[in-house]
Amino acid sequence: MKALRALLVVVATLRMVPSSTGSASLEPPQNVTVHIVNINITLKWDWENLHGLNVTFSAQYEEVLEHEKTLENWKVIPECQNVISADCDLSLLKLDYLSDYNVRVRVEAGEESSPWASLIFCPHLTGLSSLSSAQIGPPGVLLESVDGNVNIKIIPPEADQPKQMWKYDPLTYKMAIWKNSSKSE
Ligand SMILES: *[C@@H]1O[C@H](CO)[C@@H](O)[C@H](O)[C@H]1NC(C)=O
Ligand SMILES: *[C@@H]1O[C@H](CO)[C@@H](O)[C@H](O)[C@H]1NC(C)=O
Ligand SMILES: *[C@@H]1O[C@H](CO)[C@@H](O)[C@H](O)[C@H]1NC(C)=O
Ligand SMILES: *[C@@H]1O[C@H](CO)[C@@H](O)[C@H](O)[C@H]1NC(C)=O
Repeated sequence: MKALRALLVVVATLRMVPSSTGSASLEPPQNVTVHIVNINITLKWDWENLHGLNVTFSAQYEEVLEHEKTLENWKVIPECQNVISADCDLSLLKLDYLSDYNVRVRVEAGEESSPWASLIFCPHLTGLSSLSSAQIGPPGVLLESVDGNVNIKIIPPEADQPKQMWKYDPLTYKMAIWKNSSKSE
């Protein structure tokens, strides 16, 4: 019993030690999520500014390799350095959409910084995690009148884009046509 209590104290102490770059006085960001629409990838987080501090946020990322999960190979995300809003753009990173990535974000105020808050995500993975869900943007629709008939042309969501998230996925389309009945009759 005594040994168990001692162990508990050690564990509790370890958990309270701030990480080497972190500071005990700044809380880390919460609710880190990644929002994906086609190849637009946005990192978002929450942070409650209880004391009205003048803070900025910075984020880094690393690829998670199958056998080297503990490899520390963090890279700075240029679009996510010293930002004042609670989101930033990951679209310009040259991500492999089928790989897993670890992203981490922290709060900075002058020389102080919070511990990191992190999230692992795979850009192409749809709907499997509520923290990172990829969405397919809408297709284009064109109406053409040919000899009195109306032809409907569907343009795939990422047509003419140099980079595509859904290039290898078979897409199907669902179409609904209705009469605009809001006209007064
Ligand atoms: C994180 O998300 C939860 C659930 O939506 C919410 O209650 C909480 O306020 C959020 N945290 C911050 C710091 O906004
Ligand atoms: C917050 O920081 C910005 C950038 O360093 C500075 O321009 C601004 O004056 C600061 N505001 C306050 C209230 O300290
Ligand atoms: C992606 O972002 C660009 C620039 O912000 C925007 O113009 C475009 O509509 C976005 N695409 C989608 C599918 O949301
Ligand atoms: C439907 O008809 C109303 C009334 O003419 C018009 O104001 C509205 O823009 C129409 N909606 C669409 C989607 O065409």
